[in-house]
Amino acid sequence: MKEKLNFYFKRQGAILLLLFYSATSLWAQKITIPIASENHMILLQTDHLNRLRTIYFGKPLQNQSELEAVGATTNYDENNSGIYNSAYTPAGTWNLSEPAIQVKHADGNPSLELKYSSYKKEQIDANTSLTSIVLKDPVYLFEVILCYKVWSKENVIEQWTEIRHKEKKAVLLQKFASANLYFSNKDFYLTSFQGEYLKEMQSIETKLEQGIRTIDSKLGTRAMLLQTPNFMVSFGKPASENQGTVLLGQLAWSGNFKLDFEIDSHKNLRLITGINPFASEYALAPNETFKTPSLIYALSNNGTGEASRNLQNWARKYRVLDGEGERLTLLNNWEATYFDFDENKISGLFKGAKDIGVDMFLLDDGWFGNKYPRNNDDAGLGDWQENKKKLPHGLGYLVKEAKKEGVKFGIWIEPEMVNSRSELYEKHQDWVIRQPERPEIYYRNQMVLDLSNPEVQDFVFGIVDNLFVKNPDLAFIKWDCNAVIYNAYSTYLNKKGLPQSNLYVDYIKGLYKVLERIRTKYPKVPMMLCSGGGGRGEYEFLKYFTEFWPSDDTEPLERIFLQWNYSYFFPSITTDNHVTDWGKQPLKFRVDVASMGKLGFDIVTDHLSEKDKQFCKQAISNYHSFKDIVWHGDQYRLVNPYENEIASLMYVNKDKTRAVVFNYLVNNRFNLTATKRPVLFNGLDSNKMYSVKEINTYPNIDSTLKKDAVFSGDFLMKAGYNPDVNLKRTSVVLEIKEVK
Ligand code: GLA
Repeated sequence: MKEKLNFYFKRQGAILLLLFYSATSLWAQKITIPIASENHMILLQTDHLNRLRTIYFGKPLQNQSELEAVGATTNYDENNSGIYNSAYTPAGTWNLSEPAIQVKHADGNPSLELKYSSYKKEQIDANTSLTSIVLKDPVYLFEVILCYKVWSKENVIEQWTEIRHKEKKAVLLQKFASANLYFSNKDFYLTSFQGEYLKEMQSIETKLEQGIRTIDSKLGTRAMLLQTPNFMVSFGKPASENQGTVLLGQLAWSGNFKLDFEIDSHKNLRLITGINPFASEYALAPNETFKTPSLIYALSNNGTGEASRNLQNWARKYRVLDGEGERLTLLNNWEATYFDFDENKISGLFKGAKDIGVDMFLLDDGWFGNKYPRNNDDAGLGDWQENKKKLPHGLGYLVKEAKKEGVKFGIWIEPEMVNSRSELYEKHQDWVIRQPERPEIYYRNQMVLDLSNPEVQDFVFGIVDNLFVKNPDLAFIKWDCNAVIYNAYSTYLNKKGLPQSNLYVDYIKGLYKVLERIRTKYPKVPMMLCSGGGGRGEYEFLKYFTEFWPSDDTEPLERIFLQWNYSYFFPSITTDNHVTDWGKQPLKFRVDVASMGKLGFDIVTDHLSEKDKQFCKQAISNYHSFKDIVWHGDQYRLVNPYENEIASLMYVNKDKTRAVVFNYLVNNRFNLTATKRPVLFNGLDSNKMYSVKEINTYPNIDSTLKKDAVFSGDFLMKAGYNPDVNLKRTSVVLEIKEVK
């Protein structure tokens, strides 16, 4: 009996606790919800009308009992100007500012109100929690769940929204943001990144002033070609590496995105990000959930350096496929042969790969198509059978030959695309995204397949599956995407009676379905994401891909700047850097730059002089000895090439016993001053002693640096070290090791 009573009270207690957690406005006047990581806190609070607002963004407040009082510290009169700090701003009722969500209900009514209903916080593990907040329309059976996943130690938040309804017919989602953030501060600086082919990730920092600044993409595929979904917001002053509060953010979505940065009339910042609503009204059926993509952001009070390291650690540990694993160094034939090769020429290159010491050979574009052989980029895409003339014994033969030489074999595909000169196009015009009544428009002579169509999804999955079924030893896939979507129109959606405006979203969802299937069957095989250079590469794709290709621009000077900018958001293990013949820099410079990431080569090794070959072998062997630090260690951007005559980047292993520092001359004026000064290292242990040694020197060229130099971490981080970069020594790599 006693036991029964105990059980009864425990159960009642649990129910009460649950009710307390999912408290409604009936129970308390105001609900205050903290979203907190180790060093940051966002506070959300209901107002007297039970709408949810953002009331605080800053360092964590210590006293739970004081959280509620924060709401009263600001005094905005919003009667005439909308409510700017709404946590998820609806359209069509009281709000007159830029909405986060806009819908047309099943009965055609365009109004939405969202009131707080309940919230819960789940502790996933010691470091990770998920807070979900339910908001409901009091009139329609329509609800939104705001989700915040927090990695406390890394100060990283992933935020998304789930939208669902129980109305009689589909509801048209006209705008459906992932996140609607609000920051109050005096000044805000935005760094965004623009690009074009061969000029990806060009940064620009501007002070945000009145009005909305929009960064967006409408390209459909290859979506980051012109603008990227990566950004930095710096609070109070421009972003700097070791000081100040900064937010590094990215919308993890592989299609059209829109980031709106609005300075409101109180001079605060509203940030609304999500899928670009452009031509994308989405029909959401009753009882289905529309999960928006995630906004991922890292916060730091100590500048962009710490924020990046946190984001990089998070990415390796929690996000990127095999983020804490290994990668394959490689030799690629693209720039060495372009389309002009056959079986003999290719197998002739394997030995060179083995000789210089890379792990794998990657066969690029041009290996397929028979009726329309892929001898240039205007034919064959879509026909994924080996070209019999070039490869009479098939890919299997090449895989075997590579194995004999002791290297693995990988292959290039571009499975989402089609040339009009292809058998696929002849058979399945209805699979192609094109306006049936208008002339076709090509980008690099090709068009995009309609991945909203499940048959096309099967086809694309089949391309990869067939390759692996036939060649189980295949070690790597380079997945390219060289076109944008013109003439956006889907025959499939039309047949199904679904709106054309579903296409941009359903394309990307279809693509994720294919990748999901590939990863279920082939969980580990490394895959590189490429998009005519750097048109893709974000954290939703990186759940499926181990790495990405940042740009076709491999000119090493340019590359320093490009890699610098990518490094704000991505760990080096995810960025593929190849040594090619681009530019006038010496081979050593090219190899050193490519070593700050996943190293590859795209050269004809037989064309190298004996000394060059000797250098490559040595540098690759050095790379194998320090790659673990570059891939898994902490990165410190020491000297910024945008502001100095040199660039310096450093990687330190987790126990601070080893490091590698890369230094480059980025300016070749005669009278250089930056090179006269030391570089201040970072991330070492002040109390440890370290040897500093130059590595990757060219054969028979001695280092000008003192041999066997030993310094304390304290000295190297305060007084610094001069790598003696100058016009004769344009690239200097230092190996740092603890000495006991
Ligand atoms: C794109 C890629 C290159 C190469 C070619 C092949 O341009 O970025 O690396 O694979 O396609 O056509």
